[in-house]
Amino acid sequence: MILLTFSRKEEICLGHLAINGGTPVLSSNRLSPWPQLTYKDRELVNQVLESGILAGAFAPQVKVLQEEVAKYLGVKHCIAVNSGTAALHMAVAAAGVGPGDEIITSAFSFLASATAAMHQGGIPVFVDIDPKTHNLDPRRIEEKLSENTKAIIAVHIQGLPADMDEIRAIADKYKLVLIEDAAQAPGATYKGRKIGTLGDIAAFSLNQTKNFQAGEGGLFVTDNKEYWLRADMVRMFGEQVREKERRSYVAHTLGWNYRMPELTAAIARAQLERLDEINENARRNAKILNAVLAEIDGIDPPFCPPDRTHIYHKYRARLHPEVLGISDKDTVFRDKVLLALQAEGVPAVLWQTFPLPANPLFQKKEGFGKGFPWTFPGARQINYDLSEYPETLKLLNSSIVIGSERYPIFAQSADTVELWGEAIRKVFQNLDEVLETVELPKEEAFALGEITSLR
Ligand SMILES: Cc1ncc(COP(=O)(O)O)c(C=O)c1O
Repeated sequence: MILLTFSRKEEICLGHLAINGGTPVLSSNRLSPWPQLTYKDRELVNQVLESGILAGAFAPQVKVLQEEVAKYLGVKHCIAVNSGTAALHMAVAAAGVGPGDEIITSAFSFLASATAAMHQGGIPVFVDIDPKTHNLDPRRIEEKLSENTKAIIAVHIQGLPADMDEIRAIADKYKLVLIEDAAQAPGATYKGRKIGTLGDIAAFSLNQTKNFQAGEGGLFVTDNKEYWLRADMVRMFGEQVREKERRSYVAHTLGWNYRMPELTAAIARAQLERLDEINENARRNAKILNAVLAEIDGIDPPFCPPDRTHIYHKYRARLHPEVLGISDKDTVFRDKVLLALQAEGVPAVLWQTFPLPANPLFQKKEGFGKGFPWTFPGARQINYDLSEYPETLKLLNSSIVIGSERYPIFAQSADTVELWGEAIRKVFQNLDEVLETVELPKEEAFALGEITSLR
C-alpha cells in the first residue's frame, strides 16, 4: 500500500484499484467471446459443403433463410444480401431516392445509416437525439425537412426501438418512405410488434458483432411488392432474376452484386434459432447491471420505455460527474473511469466518439468527388454544423459501453455480469483515486475504442 499526498492536500491510498497494482475484480478468462457457434451452425454448414452449392440468388440455404426470417418477423418479403450496408442501400434505392434527394437520419449511429443515402446519390440530413433514448428525436425532425426530403431512416440504436409512432406520423404527413435501420435491434419489440415490421422497409446487419450474426451479411425486408422487386434488381446487377427462368442478363436499372453466399446463409439460419434466447440473456444481464447502477451516484443505466423491449446490443451507461460535484472538462472523467474499469477486467469500451456529421466526409463534403452529391443541380445547400447536435455530443462525451464487441453483455453469464457490477462499484467507491492517478494516453479519443476483428 502506497500513501501519497496530493496537491489538493488529500491523502489517497493506492494499491487497491487494479489500475494502480491492485487485484482485478475479474480475469479475462471469465469472459465469453462472441460470436458463439454451436453444433447447429456446423450441421448446416456441412449441409452446404455436401450440397456443393456455394452461391446463388435461389440457392437452398439462402431461400430457406429468407422464408425463415420473413416468418420470424411476420413480413411478406425478405432478401438476403452480403452486408447490412447493402440492405440499407437497397432500401434507399427501393424508396426511389435519387441524386440530390435528402434522407433524414440520426446523428448518433454507424456511418452506413448515412452513407446508404449517398450510395444512391442522396444527401443525408442529420437529426439530433433524444437524451434519454439516444434514438433520433422525433420532435426535431420537422425542422430538418425540405421539399427534397424523400425518406427517413429511423435507427434503433444500441438495441432500443426508436419512437416509431411519432416518426410514422411525420412520414405519413409529408409522404416520406420510412426505412428502419434495424441492424442493432433484431428481435426487439415496439408496442408488441417486432422491429423490422414498423416502417415501409427495414434493413438488418448480420455482421459478427450483432446479436443476430453470420460473420457478414444483411437482410432487406418489406411487405411492399414494388419495393421488394426494385430492391431485388439492385441485388443483382439491375436484372430481373426469377427462379426457374432463364437469366436474361438485361439490366433494367443500376445494380450491384449483393448476393449472400450459402455458407453465410447456413450460419444465419442456425443463429436465428438462438436469437430470442440471446436477447433474453441480454435482458437478464442488463437487469443485473441496471440494479447495480441504480445504487451508484454518477452513472445511469440505459433507459428503456415500458412500451418496448431492448436487446442491449450495446449496454451504454451514462456518466454524470456533475452529480458527484466533479467538474469535468471534455471527456476526462469518462476516459479515466473507462481505463479503471478495463483494468478491473471489465471489457468497457467507447463506440462512436463524435456525431456522424463530424466525419470529414461530411465536413469537407468529399463524397464521389467534384462535390457530388451535394452539388447536384437542385440540391439544397446543407451545412453540417455541429452545434445542431448538442445531445449527441453530450452523450458521446459522457457515456461508455459496458461489454465490448468481442465480449458483449448478451453473450455473458449472470455471474460474470455480477462481477462487472462489483467492478463498477469498486471504481466508483474510489473515484478520488481514479481522478488523481489515472493517466490518459496522449492519442485521440478513438485510441480508447476497441480493436475489433472487423477493423
Ligand atoms: C446501425 C447500423 N447500421 C448499419 C450497419 C451496417 O451493417 P454492416 O456492417 O453489416 O454493413 C451497422 C453495422 O455495422 C450498424 O450498426
